[in-house]
Amino acid sequence: MCSVVNFNINGYHYKLPVIYGTFCEKAINISKLRESTGFITFDPGFKNTGITKSSISFIDGEKGELLYRGYPIEQIINQCSFIETSYLILNGELPNTAQLKSFSEKIKKFNSIHKEINKILDNIPNSYHPMGILSFLTHILDAFINNSLREEDLYLHLLAKLPILAALTYRKKIGLPPTYADPHLDYTSNLLKMFFSIPNQSYELNPIISDALNKILILHADHEQNCSTTTVRLLGSAHAGLFASISAGMSALWGKLHGGANQAVIEMLEAILKSGGNIKKWIEKAKNKKDPFRLMGFGHRIYKNFDPRAKIAKKVAENVIQQLGISDPILELAKDVERKALQDSYFLEKKLYPNIDFYSGIIYQAIGIPKEMFTVMFALGRLPGWMAHWKEMKLNKDPIGRPRQIYIGYKKRNIKKK
Ligand code: CMC
Repeated sequence: MCSVVNFNINGYHYKLPVIYGTFCEKAINISKLRESTGFITFDPGFKNTGITKSSISFIDGEKGELLYRGYPIEQIINQCSFIETSYLILNGELPNTAQLKSFSEKIKKFNSIHKEINKILDNIPNSYHPMGILSFLTHILDAFINNSLREEDLYLHLLAKLPILAALTYRKKIGLPPTYADPHLDYTSNLLKMFFSIPNQSYELNPIISDALNKILILHADHEQNCSTTTVRLLGSAHAGLFASISAGMSALWGKLHGGANQAVIEMLEAILKSGGNIKKWIEKAKNKKDPFRLMGFGHRIYKNFDPRAKIAKKVAENVIQQLGISDPILELAKDVERKALQDSYFLEKKLYPNIDFYSGIIYQAIGIPKEMFTVMFALGRLPGWMAHWKEMKLNKDPIGRPRQIYIGYKKRNIKKK
């Protein structure tokens, strides 16, 4: 393995150091490039830019593999709960029994919000999208948290309070009164109860639903330098606070090309169904470069093979629908769209496979979560990843994120008023 790369620019010879990751991912360290050559690199969308060294998750996009702290996602999904996964992602190792108990109890200690938050929520127009509300409430939560708390406690506060904010947002939308956390329940069961319990009625937990929710949250827990995580790290690099950074990450996640794709997928599938189910026509539309439409839930910057999360999500969707004894024409349609797209040379040549968002909405619908809340569920799942990256960014002492540009505007000129 080479430790430097040699190159020539205009007859001058330069050397730049090379750095390697655990799986021999290699990068040319260009941090001194401009200083020594006068050149910067140009990489819109950061397609070839590593912004940090990280040990939280690893994607092998060619093989379609995902590891959390070294553990394959397929093992985590079958052997861990979401809260164990959160501990793993935040702290680097899986918890033992005592550590898990203490982590869960500490989260429960922070399982309430200031009553002012309810008043603030009451004043937000009901027409506002739940992702906007969640991002706003997460930001303002900072005003109600004791500033002298240890950083580790801030993570626990967010893990405890985000489900409450999500549930309150949902309940306000549908006209249900505010709810409280139930300290006797585990994380996902509590989340379900906070969402769906109705005053003066006992809430019956369904273990099938609880298990499906647990799995879908795990699938979202981290995904290296995606758009929202990079947003969180960028804000943190400017020494913005944790809540402001996470709130900004949520806003990035809301975008349709990122987490907002889960809502867009179901809307697309419903539109296909409504327009007569002619899948071929929609696939042609997605291939047409003059049409801005894209097959939502397909394609990924890193995966050039199946997204392993999509494979698991498909199975979870099939299981939950079968176990609940419901029939879902959208699931059948989604499988048909996948089959037909993967027979099409456009998708094969461009290596466009279903991503996590293709099947996740079907799981949420089976659980009873409405479309507008899908990306909120993604945010609940991604929270440990965002926080772990924020923590890592601080430990790494990453410098403030500040890219350069190639200016193509006017040359220097003088104002001449007419
Ligand atoms: N439908 C049709 N064509 C597509 C699609 C699609 N879903 N995705 C990519 N392409 C084409 C694209 O037009 C381009 O073609 P060409 O080379 O001829 O110009 C080529 O494939 C490469 O696409 P790209 O946009 O340069 O790739 P990217 O890495 O910049 O974008 C993506 C990745 C996920 C934004 C994109 O695949 C996409 O828009 N997918 C649909 C939205 C979606 O499902 N997003 C969820 C992503 S996974 C979860 C998450 O991160 O939140």
